[in-house]
Amino acid sequence: MKDISVSDRLIFALDVRSADDARALVELLGDAVSFYKIGLELCMAGGYFELLAWLRGQGKKVFADLKFYDIPQTVGRAVAQLADHDVQFCTVHGDRSIMEAAVASRAAINILAVTVLTSLDESDLREMGYSGTPQDLALQRARTALESGCNGVISSGLEAPTIREHLGHDLIVVCPGVRPAAQDDDQKRVVTVEQAFLNGADYIVVGRPIRDAEDPRAAATQMQDAIAGVFS
Ligand code: C5P
Repeated sequence: MKDISVSDRLIFALDVRSADDARALVELLGDAVSFYKIGLELCMAGGYFELLAWLRGQGKKVFADLKFYDIPQTVGRAVAQLADHDVQFCTVHGDRSIMEAAVASRAAINILAVTVLTSLDESDLREMGYSGTPQDLALQRARTALESGCNGVISSGLEAPTIREHLGHDLIVVCPGVRPAAQDDDQKRVVTVEQAFLNGADYIVVGRPIRDAEDPRAAATQMQDAIAGVFS
């Protein structure tokens, strides 16, 4: 078992239109959420690094989900820039040379490799030219991530058991695509909160089920209670 506080295991994806909206939501959530993922939408909105510093000032942990994908030198240099900010996690796509470049520049950041986006299913992979299942590809990329020195992977909760079975517990496994119950959106490979952790996740990333809830704080608290139930 890794030394992770139970409340940090829920990472809220702060997918909102502006840094001001983000601050308002963080204030509304209060101590129900201690770990925030800030991604591409906020990066494009402006004020990204100011928001990052503000979150750190509030005592929150930060996951910079910018999913770097470029030639290794460019990714390495981008990670080196990010390392000047106080972030706990960042993401890169799961090609070996990209992951190695990110790891070489990471300083104190934990590098997480994206295995297979949870919005993709087997037919999407066919169209992209892959012949195996999402599970095969996720395992292959997780193995490469481990060999490349990455700290962890982003994977669907459905693939987490295979990753644990073949690669053990060294990698941090972060699972998006978590839903309280069946939901009709673009996530195709989904699991519930409990299932994700029982399948081997260390952290879950949850966005819309909290953001779009009638009472986001209550939705987050309910998930925190479910997590506490798994780890009690
Ligand atoms: O709203 P929802 O709970 O689907 O949000 C999931 C978050 O996790 C989004 O911010 C998305 O970018 C991110 N993510 C994902 N699948 C991955 C990696 C990250 O859904 N493989």
